Formats: sequence, C-alpha cells, structure tokens
Amino acid sequence: MPHVATLGRWVGVALGILSIQGFATHETAIPDDTVLQEQLEKSVDLRRRETFDRVLDARDPGELVEHATLTDAALDRHILGIDALFVVGDELFGYLFRPENGWGSGSGGTDRKAIDYTPQLRRVQQGRAGGPDAFGCFSCHSKGGPDGAGTQTQNAFLFGDGERIGSADQRNAPHLLGLGPVALLAREMSAALQAEAAGASERARAEGRLVEQALSTKGVSFGRVVAHSNGTLSYAAVEGVDPDLTIRPFGWKGHQATLRDMAEESLHIHQGLLSTRIQLAVRDGSLDAAPYGKGPWFDVDEDGVSLEIDSGMLTTVVAYLAQLEAPVIRPPHDPGLLDAFAAGRSYFDAVGCSGCHIPTLELDDSKLDARAPQPPAEDRPAFIVDVAKDGDGPKIEPKYAGNNTAYLVHLFSDLKRHDMGDGLASPAPQGTIPTRMFLTRSLWGLAETAPYLHDGRAPTVQDAIVLHGGEAAAARDAYLALDENARASVRVFLASLSRQPKLFVP
Ligand code: HEC
Ligand code: HEC
Repeated sequence: MPHVATLGRWVGVALGILSIQGFATHETAIPDDTVLQEQLEKSVDLRRRETFDRVLDARDPGELVEHATLTDAALDRHILGIDALFVVGDELFGYLFRPENGWGSGSGGTDRKAIDYTPQLRRVQQGRAGGPDAFGCFSCHSKGGPDGAGTQTQNAFLFGDGERIGSADQRNAPHLLGLGPVALLAREMSAALQAEAAGASERARAEGRLVEQALSTKGVSFGRVVAHSNGTLSYAAVEGVDPDLTIRPFGWKGHQATLRDMAEESLHIHQGLLSTRIQLAVRDGSLDAAPYGKGPWFDVDEDGVSLEIDSGMLTTVVAYLAQLEAPVIRPPHDPGLLDAFAAGRSYFDAVGCSGCHIPTLELDDSKLDARAPQPPAEDRPAFIVDVAKDGDGPKIEPKYAGNNTAYLVHLFSDLKRHDMGDGLASPAPQGTIPTRMFLTRSLWGLAETAPYLHDGRAPTVQDAIVLHGGEAAAARDAYLALDENARASVRVFLASLSRQPKLFVP
C-alpha cells in the first residue's frame, strides 16, 4: 500500500517566501543538515509504525479500524484535541474498508463469516445507489501526492446502470487541498446573498412596492432577485447558484455545500458505508430510502452491519479535510521563464480567464466547526478547526501581516456555476443542475492534477482551455487569438499553480 496513513507521512521542508505580483509564493530550499536529519528520523519512525500496523492487522484483523474510529460519545467527552482528529482522520482516509466494517451493500445476508463472500465491486455506479467502486478514499485521491487528484483510470462513473461505462456520468477526482477555506468562503457568500434577498423582501413589504435587488458577494455577481410588495421573492433572474442562494462549492457541478455532506456522500457512493444520520432519517421517514437499500432502518443496505459511520467518524473526516494544506504558487526559477510567468499572469486577466477563475477571494472568518450541523450544547462541545492555522502547512495567507482578521484565498474560482456549452455537457441534468452548467473549477494546485476537466478528457491545460465553450467561449477565443509566445506564457503561469513539495515517505 503506497499510502502512509499517519500524521507526518509528509515531512515539511524549509521554505523561503517571495512575493510576485501580490501573491505570496513558496519556494523550496534544500534543508540544512539538522533539519534533514530530523526529517529522516521522522520518516524512519513513520515507516516503523506502518510496518507495525500491518503486522498487527495480520494478527488481529479489525484492530486497525478501531484505532481509526472516534465515536460521537468519545467526542462529547472532549478528551481529544483537533490535532488528534487530524491523525485519526488521516487513518480513515487511508483505510481500506472491509465487509465487516459495513463496506458494500446487500447480497450477502448476515453471515459474514462465510468464506464464500466475494466483494461486489462495481466499476460503474448504479443510479444514486452508487458503487461501491473502491475500498478507500485514497484509492482515487492520490495523484500529485496524498489527498491529491485522480488519474484518468481512477475516474468514477456516476449515475450509471451498474455495468456500462457509456451509461454513466464520468468524473475525474479533484485534489482535496485547501477545502476548509473553500467551505468557509461558500458559507460567507451564501450568508451575504441570503441577507441581500431578505433585505429586499423587507423593503418591498415596508414600502409596498416592487424591489429589484442585485445579488453580489466578494465581487461575484449572482444576478438579482425581485421582491414583490407582499414580500415574496422571485428567483427567475438569479444566476449561477440555486434559488435557495446557497453556494455549493463541492463537486464538478457544485452540488454539495458542506464538507460533512460531501464526506457522507463519498462514503456512501464509493464504499457503500451508511452514516447513522442516514439510518435515523430513514427510520423517521424524513429521507427516501431508495438510494440506500431496501433493508430495515438499522441495516438499510442489508450487509449485516448496522453501525457503519457514526457521526463522530464523519466529524473526524471533516476535521481532517479542513486541516489539509493549501496549494501554493511556485514561480519558475529560470529568469526567462520567470518573465513568461509574469506575462502569463497578465494575459490570464487580459483574455478574460479571471472573470470566472477569480485569482483571490477574501475570507473573513477562518473557524469551521467540524461537528456542525449538530447543535452545540453544554455537553456537546464544538470541534473548531482554524483553517488558517491548524493541521498541515502551508496555510492560507493573512491579508495583513500580524493581523489575522482576514485571509487571502488564491483559489482561482468564483464558486459560481456557468454554462460551458454543448461540448462539455453532462449526459443528464444532476438534480436541478442543467447538463451544461459546471462550477468554475478552482485552479489552485492545478499543476499536479492532470488530466483536466470534469471527466479528465484533457491531457494538458492547452486542451482544457480549447475545450471551454458556452460562457467561456469568448475567453477561449481570446486566448487562441494570442500569438504562440503569449499563449505559452499563460501555460507557464498555470504550471506555477502547485503544491508545496515535501519529502514523501512511501
Ligand atoms: C472512485 C473514486 C473516488 C473515491 C474512492 C473517493 N472519491 Fe472523492 N471524489 C471523486 C470524484 C470523481 C469527485 C468529483 C465528484 C463530483 O463531481 O460530484 C470527488 C470529489 C470529492 C470531494 C469534493 C472536492 C471538490 O473540490 O469538489 C471531496 C471532499 C471528496 N471527494 C472526498 C472524498 C472522501 C472523504 C472519500 C472517502 C470516503 C472519497 N472522496 C473517495 C472520486 C472519488
Ligand atoms: C465562464 C467561466 C470560465 C471562463 C471565462 C474560463 N473558465 Fe476555465 N473553467 C471553467 C469551468 C466551469 C471549468 C470546469 C469545466 C469542466 O470540467 O467541464 C473550467 C476548467 C478549467 C481548467 C481545468 C481545471 C481542472 O482542474 O481540470 C483549466 C486549466 C481552465 N479552466 C483554465 C482557463 C483559462 C486559462 C481560461 C482563460 C482562457 C479560462 N479557464 C476561462 C470556467 C471558466
């Protein structure tokens, strides 16, 4: 197993910081002897723990997942800090789930001891019931380093007939770095849009007239709402976001709003693992059981395991994802290439790429409660992750040195959905999201995540750009109208959107 599922499997190397065109960028320096010595010791230590885990698992199967399980009850006692959640979440991310943990669904009855058990892996997912198509998260999120993207052969085949690849909506796995800040940006943007709409409704009622309110947050415009004199709102002119004005920053189509929902969905569709929340919602009738199975509420997916994903486990995965490092901009060393990088950054604006791939969004509040939406209460302490501080570095950049009240997130996205034309359209709408609509994919970390676009059809950034259509056609054409030197500079710039190099411990 190439993945090392323990804290510190990457060992940070010393970094120098230089600033180009207003971006803090990180360059790697060769660490001095003491630093290097320390890193090597950590690596060797980690390697020993890995070997120990493997042997332990060979002798006592099941021990490993116990290490990687934190129940809600354990979190209530709050003996563990946010750093412990990171370590355990890391274990879970790298853990290969097994049938006795509830991996998979149906077919086998309740007798799991039988040696006739065959894992029912399904390469192509079946409708909303999903796969399972993998044993672990890292099976798809590993390109470019831990928690990375997926190669083309790691694509997931969503919403298919369970058999034919051609029946499915093919998706390439994005990298998972920096998602804590992304979740928080979305939360702030949703709150701002909803406040604008509520204000318009109030004004319309108070003044007894029709009010048109432009919706805009963090410099991104989302169309407008119309408030009628009785206070009701009409959303027909809202753009790039659902009528509930909730920004959903996850998934290629932008269909999930929180890391918790994304983690719960991933565990279900890729590993056939059901959360306790899903079981309870099926029990009280608030959730349609169809995508999950036909069994009784305590074993909806009929695999003979009733406790699969305790909500403490979801909290752990969220706390882990929220603490991952942020991607960085790493300009080239070569002076000629450095000039191209700078020119490329300007062309990126000039041809209109940054109209959607907005280079920087500003975050006001860096605190994410890994337990939300569970209501905080006296005996249910929150687990607050400070996404600007906790976990793996590098982190997002404070706006003002020494004053941590706002942060610059160099995401290269507006977190808005756009019409990308017929060429990129999905085979079918996803829920209420039309076939041609996609969320502006963030470009941070881009250099390590080829192939590109939602189904990984583009082997290079050049191909990805050429395949832009719809609302992005003008920017694509402007890029293609540049001379080859200028186009090359855009590509050099894009190649700098990367992640911090670290010593990888295999
Ligand atoms: C079979 C491959 C596969 C496996 C296994 C997998 N993922 Fe993913 N992941 C994907 C794909 C494909 C997407 C894009 C999904 C979409 O477009 O809706 C994705 C998206 C995500 C996202 C949203 C990222 C973004 O920027 O939009 C998160 C978070 C995530 N996965 C977490 C997980 C976790 C946690 C696990 C393990 C429980 C997991 N994934 C297992 C393929 C996989
Ligand atoms: C109208 C909004 C819009 C404009 C303008 C735009 N893009 Fe995009 N871009 C997107 C969306 C949406 C996607 C994801 C589309 C998909 O996967 O089907 C994307 C994807 C990409 C990707 C692939 C990212 C990945 O991880 O796979 C690259 C590279 C990219 N854009 C670069 C550019 C460049 C360079 C320009 C300017 C020439 C540009 N884009 C202009 C919306 C836009």
